[in-house]
Amino acid sequence: MKPPPPSSPSSSSSSILRKGRLSPYLVTLLAFILFVTILYGEDFSCIFASQFDPHPPSHIHQSLLSITKKKGEKLAFAIGEGEKGCDVFSGRWVWDDTRPLYEEEECPYIQPQLTCQEHGRPDKDYRNWRWQPHGCSLPSFNATLMLETLRGKRMMFVGDSLNRGQYVSMVCLLHRAIPEDAKSMKTKGSLTVFTAKEYNATIEFYWAPFLLESNSDDAIVHRISDRIVRKGSINKHGKHWKGVDIMVFNTYLWWMTGLEFKILQGSFDDEEKDIVILPTEEAYRMGMKSMLRWVKKNMDPNKTRVFFTSMSPSHQKSIDWGGDPNGNCYNQTTMIEDPTYWGSDSRKGIMRVIGEVFSKSKVPITFLNITQLSSYRKDAHTSIYKKQWNPLTPEQLANPASYADCVHWCLPGLQDTWNELLFSKLFYP
Ligand SMILES: *[C@@H]1O[C@H](CO)[C@@H](O)[C@H](O)[C@H]1NC(C)=O
Ligand SMILES: *[C@@H]1O[C@H](CO)[C@@H](O)[C@H](O)[C@H]1NC(C)=O
Ligand SMILES: *[C@@H]1O[C@H](CO)[C@@H](O)[C@H](O)[C@H]1NC(C)=O
Ligand SMILES: *[C@@H]1O[C@H](CO)[C@@H](O)[C@H](O)[C@H]1NC(C)=O
Ligand SMILES: *[C@@H]1O[C@H](CO)[C@@H](O)[C@H](O)[C@H]1NC(C)=O
Repeated sequence: MKPPPPSSPSSSSSSILRKGRLSPYLVTLLAFILFVTILYGEDFSCIFASQFDPHPPSHIHQSLLSITKKKGEKLAFAIGEGEKGCDVFSGRWVWDDTRPLYEEEECPYIQPQLTCQEHGRPDKDYRNWRWQPHGCSLPSFNATLMLETLRGKRMMFVGDSLNRGQYVSMVCLLHRAIPEDAKSMKTKGSLTVFTAKEYNATIEFYWAPFLLESNSDDAIVHRISDRIVRKGSINKHGKHWKGVDIMVFNTYLWWMTGLEFKILQGSFDDEEKDIVILPTEEAYRMGMKSMLRWVKKNMDPNKTRVFFTSMSPSHQKSIDWGGDPNGNCYNQTTMIEDPTYWGSDSRKGIMRVIGEVFSKSKVPITFLNITQLSSYRKDAHTSIYKKQWNPLTPEQLANPASYADCVHWCLPGLQDTWNELLFSKLFYP
């Protein structure tokens, strides 16, 4: 699967709202009112009131976003409690000689887009860092425990190629504990299924970069710059997710095409397409709310768990961390040391939307806040060390930074940590 093209400003999508002499503020307000009226006509007044809350939560502690249950009630799959007051997402990277947790060549499921050593990456240090929360330690990943827990069950990752990376990392973390002839991986359309036969367990990945129906849903041919998402369409994909026991969602990068985003009101088959243009953050908010509604309707909180992985940061411009004005993640072998480093501003807006949507909802979703800890890791991307899908031109060869992938991550590597955090929140919430 090809990586999505890096964020590019959309040029064609702004025609309607840019015309006329409206101030940008008024345009945003109008677009917002239009959005609220059309998408949430039924509870307009309530949403309107809450949206204009003069004191929106700017920072929501992760523990508030994890499911909170009444005392004595146990979360599905929990075997203990996380240390009180410890935010596992706040910490630092420490060197660990015992890493990586598996070898690249030992795990046959890693797609050639992520096998950096095979594609000539000269350095290896990126595989040796362990995440150390400030207030506690993460439990060690126990593949046997994970597989026993999944006995007779389904775990599914739904989202884009970054979620696929986390999925493959999970499979690699588990596969050594399964004998050679007792496992298989098959892909059909949007669905990839890894089966651990003796456990009657499956670990699956479903391609749906927006979760909702979109014009980028083809599992292979999906490089579309003029992206359109259909309002209220989550069941189009959601019908394939029913009966899952542990669910891991992500969605972010594909929404990032500029300040505005196209939302389709009718069907993709309509001859005259009815399209509304929303500020990207409001379009994303709509996507998040659809996801929450789907979870509420389809997942039994007493028996299942749902995770949401936050935005995976990219490192497209080294100027962001005070480097060479023309550079990117290419040739980066060390991480960013500044603990306050965050990167692009658009991530802030999206994080705020996630915080707002989750804090107003009672739907139990465990939030994997991996954005900050990953934003330090400019060294962990695949860069040029991956299968190149098109022959490289002499200009590209002369300037490797021009074709470096600063979005995806080498495996083994950073995404194994995301799964250690998932493991920690699953068993010790
Ligand atoms: C891993 O989990 C299994 C199953 O619960 C348990 O028997 C084993 O002792 C655990 N291993 C470690 C190293 O904790
Ligand atoms: C295998 O797991 C599925 C759920 O994924 C379940 O419906 C089925 O009953 C299980 N079969 C056996 C033999 O345990
Ligand atoms: C979950 O379990 C509690 C009691 O343990 C019960 O009151 C509640 O109705 C259950 N919820 C669902 C959705 O089954
Ligand atoms: C890579 O970075 C090092 C310094 O960290 C520099 O000396 C070297 O010239 C760079 N290589 C390329 C090909 O840019
Ligand atoms: C995620 O973590 C970052 C850094 O710790 C924090 O700034 C942000 O508010 C958190 N997001 C949410 C929604 O809790």
